[in-house]
Amino acid sequence: MPMNTLRLQLRFLVPLGITLVAAAYLALPLMDRLTLRWYSRDLTLRGTLVANALSDSVAQSLAHPAAPQLQTLLNRAVQDERLVAIGLCSLDGRLLNKTAGFPASLDCGAAQQTSAGAEPLMQLPSGSVQVGFYPVQADAGPVANLVLLHDHSFIDRRSQDTRRYLVGLIAVLGGTIAIITVVVAQLSWRGWISGTRALLRGEGLLRPLLSPKPELAPIAADLRNRLRDLEDEIRRASGASVPWNPERLRSLLRTTLRGDEIIVVSNREPYVHEATPDGIVVKRPASGLVTAVEPVMRACSGTWIAHGSGSADRLVVDAGDHVPLPPGSSEYTLRCIWLTAEEEQGYYYGFANEGLWPLCHVAHVRPVFRESDWNAYHVVNQRFADAVVREARSEDPVVLVQDYHFALLPAMIRARLPRATILSFWHIPWPNPESFGICPWRREILEGMLGSTILGFQTRFHCKNFIETVDRYVEARIEHEHSIISYQNEDTLVESYPISIEWPLAAATASQATVERCRARVFEGLGMTADQKLAVGIDRLDYTKGILERMDAVERLLEKHPQWIGCLVFAQVAAPSRAALDEYRMFHERLVKLADRINGRFGSPGYRPVHLLATHHEHEAVTELFRAADVCLVTSLHDGMNLVCKEFVAARDDERGVLVLSSFAGAAREMTEALIVNPYHVEECADALQRALVMPEAEQRERMASLRMTVREFNVYRWAGRMLADAGRWRMRQRVEARVQRHHVA
Ligand code: G6P
Repeated sequence: MPMNTLRLQLRFLVPLGITLVAAAYLALPLMDRLTLRWYSRDLTLRGTLVANALSDSVAQSLAHPAAPQLQTLLNRAVQDERLVAIGLCSLDGRLLNKTAGFPASLDCGAAQQTSAGAEPLMQLPSGSVQVGFYPVQADAGPVANLVLLHDHSFIDRRSQDTRRYLVGLIAVLGGTIAIITVVVAQLSWRGWISGTRALLRGEGLLRPLLSPKPELAPIAADLRNRLRDLEDEIRRASGASVPWNPERLRSLLRTTLRGDEIIVVSNREPYVHEATPDGIVVKRPASGLVTAVEPVMRACSGTWIAHGSGSADRLVVDAGDHVPLPPGSSEYTLRCIWLTAEEEQGYYYGFANEGLWPLCHVAHVRPVFRESDWNAYHVVNQRFADAVVREARSEDPVVLVQDYHFALLPAMIRARLPRATILSFWHIPWPNPESFGICPWRREILEGMLGSTILGFQTRFHCKNFIETVDRYVEARIEHEHSIISYQNEDTLVESYPISIEWPLAAATASQATVERCRARVFEGLGMTADQKLAVGIDRLDYTKGILERMDAVERLLEKHPQWIGCLVFAQVAAPSRAALDEYRMFHERLVKLADRINGRFGSPGYRPVHLLATHHEHEAVTELFRAADVCLVTSLHDGMNLVCKEFVAARDDERGVLVLSSFAGAAREMTEALIVNPYHVEECADALQRALVMPEAEQRERMASLRMTVREFNVYRWAGRMLADAGRWRMRQRVEARVQRHHVA
């Protein structure tokens, strides 16, 4: 029996025991007095009876004193077991006759006096006797008095017997009441526990029909709602007041998550080791995901599981396929997963990038779904799930699952590590239910994702789309108010966590060259003169980024405002991406063609309006370009967030430069001081570019200062911190539930 139950029951039993003892204490003397009074009255009546019976014979004997029968008569009378002795007194108080046991110390006067008292008793060596004094009646009236001494000790014996019965009765009664109390207490304690467990599991609301106590359901629902309201408030309140930085994130891990283990899973690895003729070169891939998650991992340590895609990755790992990163400072561990060419083709190029990527971006590229890709996707997700289980040092690690490459992973991890806290983050948009509905494996994907404890999207809008999609295709219970989906007895919190970049910047970037220096170098590299203006675009070479539309806008600007011909240069960095896919290769060709067309149309010897730099640029080169630019164009057709615009703002500590931003990038919701455009509307984009190029310095400064404030405050540590804090609260709830369950079982 658990201590709490015992304590609860003692709370009933101790007062009960005290009450019973008090009852016994009060009842027993009362009982004694009552029995004594009843027996004394009985003895007095008995004495009267005996005296009356002897009266005639005694009167006759006194009338004939010579007759010897008087003594015989008295002796026969005391043969009664209750009668101890008899004495006969004359009317003037002389003792005329007595039987053997009559005490020598008792005379007639004393006997009369004692019998008239409240307690007519006297002590003899054989025990106590009751003294009775009765007149002997003849026809002419009283002739003498009889003194009858009745045995009184049997009354004591009977009184003790009665007391024993009474004590026994109280004990039996007490025992019965105690047993009933214990049973009632047990039942109500159990009821309370099941109520709490159901409440914590949300069953009161989830399955009211199955609930053993339907009458508790409204209370449970109310309590649960209040708890969630409170959590929502905490989430909203954990806002901007204290700045988020690596130290705050670390302390959150130490306190809220009690130093629990962190495992990150993503397809793309944070550093790629490439074999070159000059030896192994380490590269940072062009990936918003890596830009965001890497600083978080540096702050949190832990293990990052990713596809080892670099040609020299196998050369740098240890026997367990681990490599400490970042190179040289070893702040976390990368665990490489090796994929065969077929696996990579089916899972990465096929299902993820020909299926899910266009499906979620709705950028007018038709998604392709092949059964073989789906199978590979399933197999690779399972391989990563196995790796998570192998890397986990505890039963309940915090696993951060990244992006659309791993929609099935959360449920697979949940099946093997039921106590893990699984935070999945979907970096790309989530479409509306109709668009998503064309995926042949829509149900499996949703079920896989619902294995997450927390499922994060970039914006509330994507959360809403996801919830509506679940509502359409899966039998789940949705609590819209709290954004919680309950599926197969597990809850998933669906929340928006807008992703961001590192701020404060890492030391290496912070000690960058001055804006003038960067501008001079970049202008020189592009063959520009100091009086020209530079607009930049920096993206992966991807059809969702609106690069063609951006070039159209540059062309339209040169048409509309020919004064810019010769004065404006547009440099587009397009990092090669997924080049094995036809769609991407064709897109590259279209870009080249368009750039050539614009350059052919507006270029001249020494002036090239469009520079298409379709090569990989390292972070430092990108920063240099940002710092050199007058305008940065981010015109995604659809983007989960887009971190390029945030990196541009972070690079501009001189508070100069103008950001033109697509309204279809998640970032547009936060970065309202940018010039927001519809990338499909070429006139609007050309006008925005014109406005940016002529924007007064003061306005630039005002807009940029405000944008920088937003990115500083809503940095990537806040993104991770909010998610981990929510995870911490979730884990606490689980621990409480486990404790309650333990008590219940015990
Ligand atoms: C997007 C995705 C990331 C991905 C990145 C680069 O930002 O959300 O998951 O890593 O593109 O794409 P890649 O296919 O080269 O990893």
